[in-house]
Amino acid sequence: MALNGNGGHGVGGHGVGAARLAVLLGGVRSGRGPAYRRLAAAVRVLVDDGRLPSGTRLPAERVLAAELALSRVTVTRAYRDLREAGWADARQGSGTWVRLPDGPLRADGAWVPGPVRGGVIDMTHAAPPAPQEMSLLVRRAVDRLDAELAGPGYNPDGLLALRERFAARFAAHGLPTDPGQVVVTSGALHAIGTALAELVGPGDRVLVEHPTYPAALDVIADAGARPVPVALDRDPAPTALPWAARQTAARAAYLMADFQNPTGALLDDDSRARLVQRLARQGVVAIVDESFVELDLRDGDPDVPLPCAAHAQHADDVVTVGGLSKIAWGGLRLGWVRAAAEPAARMRRRLARAQVSPPVLEQLIGVEVLDALDGLRAERVGLLRARRDRLVTEIAAEFPDWRVRVPGGGLMLWCDLGAEMSTALAAIAPRYGLSLAPGARFGPGRAFEDRLRLPFTHPEPVLAEAVRRLRRAVDDVGADPVATARADLVV
Ligand SMILES: Cc1ncc(COP(=O)(O)O)c(C=O)c1O
Repeated sequence: MALNGNGGHGVGGHGVGAARLAVLLGGVRSGRGPAYRRLAAAVRVLVDDGRLPSGTRLPAERVLAAELALSRVTVTRAYRDLREAGWADARQGSGTWVRLPDGPLRADGAWVPGPVRGGVIDMTHAAPPAPQEMSLLVRRAVDRLDAELAGPGYNPDGLLALRERFAARFAAHGLPTDPGQVVVTSGALHAIGTALAELVGPGDRVLVEHPTYPAALDVIADAGARPVPVALDRDPAPTALPWAARQTAARAAYLMADFQNPTGALLDDDSRARLVQRLARQGVVAIVDESFVELDLRDGDPDVPLPCAAHAQHADDVVTVGGLSKIAWGGLRLGWVRAAAEPAARMRRRLARAQVSPPVLEQLIGVEVLDALDGLRAERVGLLRARRDRLVTEIAAEFPDWRVRVPGGGLMLWCDLGAEMSTALAAIAPRYGLSLAPGARFGPGRAFEDRLRLPFTHPEPVLAEAVRRLRRAVDDVGADPVATARADLVV
């Protein structure tokens, strides 16, 4: 019985009821092969795609057997199969918990975007080039630097001028914020890591939307915690995430309410309020990533929801993270954490121990970026809207069978390919001058082999050329897609 790695017991968590599990399992009673193997395979698929969060206790064998009208021996054998294959743990007298097997959750060896060679179109990073105004803003920041050069350059708390602007931006979005609540980080990913270091310890569970931002999965694993994927296609976030929290006794949830990466989903105010308040009742702190909040591409004058933290009943219930990479430039490496004053002060001290001080020039550029935010947003949104629409048109023409929901914001399309070929496609794409992120990378299990995330950050002619290259790569993968890791899930 393994207690290490990604699984372990859902101690403190609750179980899934037999009736609900029967619904999730669907028509498991009929089909080819022995019933116990079908049952085990169906449970594995549910764990893999997050509908049954890792750490959920399964119903007692007798109860599930009665619910499914199967023999108890069948259920016993299915549970044994799951344990032997690493998809479940059991403790005598306490039941059986599902788990993701060791391996896929570890950061080591996980696919990460690498440098892209010349001539290759990079469709792995969802990051736009700097706006035209950027070099002017940099020059203005250099002019301001003179005043700073007279001092030591160490400002462990981050420049007050920058924290004031971050705070003012939150206030303008309807969330009054004191500069003391702001932590300056080296980008949003660093902000996620900083928040996790404050909130979770080894072995803690962190709920993640499924699919989610891949690098966050790595940072969670690096913190020694375990990402628990929660599927949102059946139940919406305000239902599914608190339900999963109850099953798994998670400590934190990492989520995106604004143009989620990769689905582009936007939560409305009502959903945000229910979500953060229900999570808080389960003792779960929501780490809300606002990386895409400025990239609202909706037409007209749409309702703009308040930040999740504005819906929290207690200041400690939500920690907000974000950065300037998407609205300004990834090379800046500037981000923030917004938290209650005390945890924010602890996070600043933690960062000061590790890096003494954030870099001064970058922070001065950040000040300029925030002062110019309205203009930058207007330029960016206009360009991105046209690029999004062009990519949608090119894909519809070249791949009429793919299903693509046009997102209201963000930087990417999440495409349903209708066939499990994403890993194979990413592997051969460089031959055609294209670099792709495999869909499976967007979850800790092996789901999303049939998905591809395509950013619309390039100029329109480059996007059109990318789709032409993609056509050739898809043709090469062939009508009979390569059997992938997921194929062996459903034997
Ligand atoms: C959701 C999300 N969070 C964080 C990041 C990292 O951003 P940064 O460059 O600010 O570290 C990204 C980058 O793609 C992202 O998509």
